Amino acid sequence: MAVQDNYQALPTDIFLASYPKTETTWLKALAFAILNRTKLKTDSGSSPTHPLLTISPHDCVPFSESESFLNNPSYANGLMATHIPYTSLPKSIIRFDCRIVYICRNPKDVLISFWHFLNKLKDDVSTPMKLDDAFELFSKGMIPSGSFWDHMLGYYKASLERPDKVLFLKYEDLKKDTESEVKKLAKFIGNPFNEEEECDGSLQKIIGLCGFENLSKVNKDSSKVLSDDIYFRKGIVGDSVNYLTTEMIQILDKITKEKCEGLDLSF
Ligand code: A3P
Repeated sequence: MAVQDNYQALPTDIFLASYPKTETTWLKALAFAILNRTKLKTDSGSSPTHPLLTISPHDCVPFSESESFLNNPSYANGLMATHIPYTSLPKSIIRFDCRIVYICRNPKDVLISFWHFLNKLKDDVSTPMKLDDAFELFSKGMIPSGSFWDHMLGYYKASLERPDKVLFLKYEDLKKDTESEVKKLAKFIGNPFNEEEECDGSLQKIIGLCGFENLSKVNKDSSKVLSDDIYFRKGIVGDSVNYLTTEMIQILDKITKEKCEGLDLSF
């Protein structure tokens, strides 16, 4: 509520919105690398200079609702992230019609990613959360960002109403056709790749820099209390089939079908 009332966006700000565990980290890295590509070198040499070769994407793009940002708003550099639902966004973001990029992912994979994440957050002496309990909380929307489906639909509907201001991306598309989706993202945030960059390997370099392999390696030995490593697990599509029961899959698919009825949206 404090962010909603007090956060002062600028008309030029770009917001990266997502439900937790839907590839926020990847989107942050890509948008940051795209916007800064002329001033930052992507090469990893003996002394790498690009921030994504040494620090976490979460240190490059802050969350508008995080304590560290609220205590130091000068940290913002035109690119911000948020997990806040569309209907609860700070009023200034809507008033200034700021551009928003939303990333979404198959809810079954989100649940599995979320469950692993919560258990990594626990200390060694706490009992791990059971998948049954995580399923219960997730399917009822009883977690800090609320219902996955309502969160996604808020941004999806906004993207239909204002396609020039809200871009809706799906992780599965980004994974399948990374070049096209990254080009789409670059164009939307006002920094399209030109023909030369597409041919000289600049586009591919950005994709490589932000890829799971590079980022998980860079963030492996983080010494922070909440290690940056926690944001990297497998980074694959469809991992949920290895964990969910047939009944859980049916229940989640039913919710998705009902919530997305009449919309050109499927997972
Ligand atoms: P998994 O747990 O399925 O592996 P978020 O960034 O919103 O916290 O989401 C975390 C998920 O994104 C994790 O999924 C993580 O492995 C995956 N991820 C993080 N960085 C990635 C990247 N550069 N490319 C692909 N997936 C990535």
